[in-house]
Amino acid sequence: MKLVKLIANLGYGSRKEVAWMFREGRITDADGEVLYADDKLPHERIRVDGEPLDPPPGLLLMLHKPVGYTCSRKDAGRLVYDLLPPRYRRREPALSTVGRLDRDTSGLLLLTDDGALLHRIIAPKAQVTKLYEATLAGDLKGHEGGLFASGTLLLESETTPLAPARLEVLGPRHVRLAVTEGRYHQVRRMFAATGNRVETLHRAAIGALGLDGLAPGQWRALQADEAARIFA
Ligand code: URA
Repeated sequence: MKLVKLIANLGYGSRKEVAWMFREGRITDADGEVLYADDKLPHERIRVDGEPLDPPPGLLLMLHKPVGYTCSRKDAGRLVYDLLPPRYRRREPALSTVGRLDRDTSGLLLLTDDGALLHRIIAPKAQVTKLYEATLAGDLKGHEGGLFASGTLLLESETTPLAPARLEVLGPRHVRLAVTEGRYHQVRRMFAATGNRVETLHRAAIGALGLDGLAPGQWRALQADEAARIFA
């Protein structure tokens, strides 16, 4: 791929703008040698304004989503994309969230530009466990663990029962819940089905991948071995 297209696809600017960046000498190799649009060299040797290029396509990021941010590209209000460098929103192929977290849910959110990987993570048959921590408005009644594990719970307006989910009770109004599906507002609706209400919801892990000390609003790219933990 031509350097102009490669750099434009990473969101640094339109092809025309990137062509200007070459003219202005802002694109160099690792030794500071000015590059031309038709030069060919490995991705890791390219610098823009002296900084290494963003990672090539095949990107997988983890983000600690804070409460109040929406998993959408164009809603009004705060978007998870606002937490990433602005050019990440202009990348081609586009960076998408792997499933969604509600605006009022915090925790581990993955983003990728690899459509096949995205589908591998969210496909029900992949059985990737999503681990949530919730606080509840009312005390647990005692039947919730059995009901969620039964594989028979039918959420309102649905025709297929939920797959079994594992509940761990941490306190009268504090739980951990491991689910393998990703239905709309699933955890909130599961507790609504028991006559309760989720007050706070946080996703602590996807598969064996946790937040690893990432503070709310922080993100980082994942290496292949970390990505493998999703399926561990
Ligand atoms: N279940 C929910 O109800 N909300 C989320 O954000 C994630 C799972």
